[in-house]
Amino acid sequence: MALADFIEQLDKLAASATAAFDAAGETAALEEARVEFLGAKKGQFKAVQKKMGSVEPGERPQAGKRLNEVKMQIEQAFVAAQERLGSQGTGGQKGGQKGPAKQFDATLPGSCLRWGHLHPITQTIEELKGIMGRLGFSVADGPEIEDERHNFEALNIPLEHPARDPLDNFYLPVVGAGGGALLLRSQTSTVQIRVMENTPPPIRIISLGRVYRPDTPDPTHYPMFHQMEGLLIDNRVTMADLKSVLRMFATSYLGSDVHIRFRPSFFPFTEPSVEADFSWNDQWIEFGGAGMVDPNVLQEVGYDPEQVTGFAFGLGIERLCMRRHNITDIRYLYKNDVRFLHQF
Ligand code: PHE
Repeated sequence: MALADFIEQLDKLAASATAAFDAAGETAALEEARVEFLGAKKGQFKAVQKKMGSVEPGERPQAGKRLNEVKMQIEQAFVAAQERLGSQGTGGQKGGQKGPAKQFDATLPGSCLRWGHLHPITQTIEELKGIMGRLGFSVADGPEIEDERHNFEALNIPLEHPARDPLDNFYLPVVGAGGGALLLRSQTSTVQIRVMENTPPPIRIISLGRVYRPDTPDPTHYPMFHQMEGLLIDNRVTMADLKSVLRMFATSYLGSDVHIRFRPSFFPFTEPSVEADFSWNDQWIEFGGAGMVDPNVLQEVGYDPEQVTGFAFGLGIERLCMRRHNITDIRYLYKNDVRFLHQF
């Protein structure tokens, strides 16, 4: 074969291969064109390459040089088409993968895993423990499944009290060891009783945990939420002590410009009883209830109301957390959406 003919065939091949690669509109078509022109066995390039043997031996070096040039040209056209289509693989890969063309570089650092962290409510609980710990309160715990004695009776809530309505509580369909009803506790005040039953005064504890009430979820209600209960029992404890402790707590948690206010209220287990409000951005927000422990409760746990007095409070932990972080809907806290949670 004459050198000129060989070169002409090579040039034609280069032109049609380049045109085919350029025309490929998707990975599958490009792959087809690759097999057609660059295929190792039946590709057109291979076919022309085989003809080199028939070129005059003296002209073969020139033919070989041109062959290599054309090969590079065709391969470059293929790579360009591959990049244009954003495909990564060549022949071997199934279905031609989509995605940016990327070379794997084993020397680059790996992609980092994002560290998890504590849930915002858990973070708040830890912070509250820290603040109250510095005020001398230690942490007590109690069960979430309670009997009626600890959730109601010892707290001076008699059977006919509306708070015991089955529609306002999660009663369980099983009975306790003593045959009495069981329910998911509706307040952490249960822990006041459990601690006083087992410990002589003085007492200075907080208890933080879940409580349950059959509320329909909305921006400010959820059937499960958290409370921080506080209980201080000693000689000559007064309302002034209660207010001082809550003020110190409020300024530690929310800032020195926070004020607190008491509004008269009623709880069966405190007398007198108050609602505790904190001011925030010129707005008063209710954070929970408080009061002096009712003498009936002290008597119930075997204390002498003539000897000891005390105060108790119960604050909503979600409210504290939501105020701090400007969270406007309690339901966000329990959706388990990391896009929300990772902000805290
Ligand atoms: N247990 C009350 C509630 O859940 C709050 C409270 C606690 C009030 C302690 C007074 C004293 O609403």
